[in-house]
Amino acid sequence: MKVKAACLVDYYSIEELVEALGNVGLPRPFFHIGGGSNILLMNDFPGTVLHSCIRFIDHTRLESGVSVRAGAGVPWDDFCLWCAERGLWGPENLSMIPGEVGAAAVQNIGAYGREVCEIISTVECFDTEQHTMVALRPEECAYGYRDSIFKNEGKGRYIVTAVSFNLREEYSPELGYGNVLEAVTRSCGQFAVHEHMLTPSQVRSVIVNIRSGKLPDPVKVGSAGSFFRNPVVPAEKYGQLARDFGETVPHYDLGGGKVKIPAAWLIDRCGWKGYRGANAGVWDSQPLVIVNATGNASPQEIKDLEDRIRASVLEKFGIELMPEVEHVS
Ligand code: EPU
Repeated sequence: MKVKAACLVDYYSIEELVEALGNVGLPRPFFHIGGGSNILLMNDFPGTVLHSCIRFIDHTRLESGVSVRAGAGVPWDDFCLWCAERGLWGPENLSMIPGEVGAAAVQNIGAYGREVCEIISTVECFDTEQHTMVALRPEECAYGYRDSIFKNEGKGRYIVTAVSFNLREEYSPELGYGNVLEAVTRSCGQFAVHEHMLTPSQVRSVIVNIRSGKLPDPVKVGSAGSFFRNPVVPAEKYGQLARDFGETVPHYDLGGGKVKIPAAWLIDRCGWKGYRGANAGVWDSQPLVIVNATGNASPQEIKDLEDRIRASVLEKFGIELMPEVEHVS
């Protein structure tokens, strides 16, 4: 079921953004979106949705590598493809994540052992409080797991207009996550892996294959990617789960007495995998993803399914899942 905004402004330059922000004729409040791939609009939106169409990619060679600067409105995967085609290492493991460059920096997207904050050098923003442009370094963006200043104290204040990335020409694939090394070896051969002959494009296509096998194609089936964050629990809680459910409970040790448990495993163990309601469902190869299976699910149907999943995980494991998806009411 579709929801509507009172007004949508696609802007193509910082000047057009500033003009829209000052335009008293536009309905308030403003709400800025990227590709809209990680939000759940609960109702029609009475204000103005702002969306960046600032789309450019340029690059500068530095002593430390190559600096690539991209407009906030560049589709994220176009950026990944652009870099891979030029032999630049950095974003290849983040290939095929839906959304746009600006939202990637807001959300600190991550996959297959890499988070975007590791390759960001500067985030350029329009500061709506000071009415000026600012360039934030990653240390100033308070990056965490799927988190940043732009989702907390800077929300509504900073509008990302462009992002610069520090990329490398030297051989630097990240193959340590899950079955990535195995999949790369199968696709490119032992020799290429051992002799350091892989290219960013090869790693990108392996990642694209892994993702296509696990995640719904957003063009065909509506979803917001991972609906929940992977919960971080105290090591004692993990110990208790391991005792209660066997040593096979998958986990990532974060150090400092904290352990991250895959929400997918918790949801799977509650029996939700492949669940189909009237219109909303749970993806059968990645239960972290709630899908609009028929295309007709209302926002409330998605929210009801979310609530049922959270309640069952809480009841079975005593763990509260937090949504990664932003709800706009
Ligand atoms: N698992 C199950 N059942 C399943 C699928 C997975 O039990 O059907 C368990 C397995 O133990 C598996 C573990 O969950 O080892 C982790 O699964 P996976 O490697 O697919 O990763 P994830 O932790 O579920 C995260 C990101 C994804 C990202 C993948 C790959 C979050 C919330 N999600 O998922 O991000 O693609 O890692 O790096 O951190 C997204 O944000 O939209 C997204 C898809």
